[in-house]
Amino acid sequence: MSRLAIRIPFIVLAAGAALLLGLQAHAEDTRVIFPKDLELFVHYMTVKRGNVTEHISTTPEAIEAVKKGQPIPNGTQFVLTDYRDGELYRYFVMEKGPGWGADYDERRRTGDWQYQWFWPNKQINLKENTARCMSCHSSQKRNDYLFTAQRLSEFRGTPLE
Ligand code: HEC
Repeated sequence: MSRLAIRIPFIVLAAGAALLLGLQAHAEDTRVIFPKDLELFVHYMTVKRGNVTEHISTTPEAIEAVKKGQPIPNGTQFVLTDYRDGELYRYFVMEKGPGWGADYDERRRTGDWQYQWFWPNKQINLKENTARCMSCHSSQKRNDYLFTAQRLSEFRGTPLE
């Protein structure tokens, strides 16, 4: 066999592997990490729809900022914990970071927020493209891309329904 004949399958394999890694990065790689201290988050709202129950929570600092009408600080995470028939199903997390919006083009960008879907074992859902999260949350531009920001200011310690 010529040397070229040996090399071609290797090149094809390498290109395939690079493509696969590239696709995964495209589908899923965002800057959002699973919250380190979720037990310190404040559960401020519960949303129920059929067999779905969502617990929405964030940090005490973010709640203070919203109540005072101040911008939500960089580093803030909001978490939507999604239960199905009482069993933990998944976590949706959005996180704001300095200049993070610049990772995306203007049409896709939602301020400086990035998004991620985590399974109960805290692994990310590789099949989700977080452009979908952004496209829906872009409708809430006036409320810093949060659906629950306005209600959040009514929170007095018992989760809102
Ligand atoms: C089709 C619209 C839609 C899509 C797509 C969507 N969301 Fe949301 N999101 C909502 C709505 C509406 C709420 C308010 C809670 C509710 O009504 O369920 C919400 C609430 C949230 C919250 C709580 C903070 C807030 O905005 O009030 C987080 C965190 C969140 N979503 C993350 C995500 C992530 C991560 C994704 C993608 C994996 C995503 N969302 C995709 C509509 C959407």
